[in-house]
Amino acid sequence: MHNILKENYFNEYYSSGFVETNLSLPDELVDEIKQHYLTKAEGHNDFPKFFVNNEHQVYMEGRALGLFFNTFPNIAKKMVKKLYDKTYRKAVYGEQAYIEKVLKYLLENDFQRFFKTRYIVASYDMYLRNDYLRSAAGIHTDFPNFHHFYETENDITIYIPLVDLDDENGGRIQVLPESKLKVPGNILLKFLYQYFSVDSSNLDEDGYVDPDKISPAATAAFVRSKPHQDLMNLYKSVIGLAKSHYADDFLMTTETKGKVLLWNNKNFHAAERWKNEQIDREVYVVRMFPIYDVNIKLKRNLHGNLFNNFLLDTEKGEIHRYDHQIDLSQIPAEAKLEL
Ligand SMILES: [Fe+2]
Repeated sequence: MHNILKENYFNEYYSSGFVETNLSLPDELVDEIKQHYLTKAEGHNDFPKFFVNNEHQVYMEGRALGLFFNTFPNIAKKMVKKLYDKTYRKAVYGEQAYIEKVLKYLLENDFQRFFKTRYIVASYDMYLRNDYLRSAAGIHTDFPNFHHFYETENDITIYIPLVDLDDENGGRIQVLPESKLKVPGNILLKFLYQYFSVDSSNLDEDGYVDPDKISPAATAAFVRSKPHQDLMNLYKSVIGLAKSHYADDFLMTTETKGKVLLWNNKNFHAAERWKNEQIDREVYVVRMFPIYDVNIKLKRNLHGNLFNNFLLDTEKGEIHRYDHQIDLSQIPAEAKLEL
């Protein structure tokens, strides 16, 4: 993050896990977002979709469970759905509904001041809703997965609670700062490029690895490869260490309705239990990432929705919307970060 955030904000992020932007969305915009997601069906939950063809995830849970998932996909699917229904009433991915509006508002209020790197991809948005009956998410990191394909260890997450997350309501996010334990992730981009670029049928006309050209068999072979296995084992160890040795080091922040928080979903995090019986916990999230000098093309679709289609220019203070994924080959080399 040191080459992404300006120094004082990096220091804040590194030691506390968060960057407090001290920016808040206007109440009308928060209410508009809430209203929009009211129209989504009760129980709409996109999380289980990530378990389809996603070896990264099953590997985390161990070989036995991975084998079970692959052998009995339908039972596994039901198990996963049940698990996520217990956590969320609604989880909506990739509507791309308010990315432009939110970022426009933030840029009008000097949001670009936080960043050192020029271009940031605003990949997709997310709406989460849960009531007090549901269990809160335990300690985890949002592991990379093949549905996103291009992921870095430096997620830039814009986190906007649509209700107060405080001592009384609960539901506060808790993060283990990077100064305590770091989850490596950029190495996966190196592996992906090294592995898939040797087969020219995986490349597009610019010589970029195109995730949509990679066959399921090739993906499965990559998953079995030593580098990938080593990394998955490393993830498993590091999550064990976070739970066993750092459970008391997670920091929490109080957020009022509409307040904009920056953090990194790749750091270990958990959510506090929601305590308010009268209203639900609702958050709106925009997931972004910086651009590295690796020749991997962005995916166009996430579970049938166009994503990776917003580009934040922190120098000009502009947000650009495209009708396709951002073409990374068009980003000047000097504006890319070294992997
Ligand atoms: Fe998470």
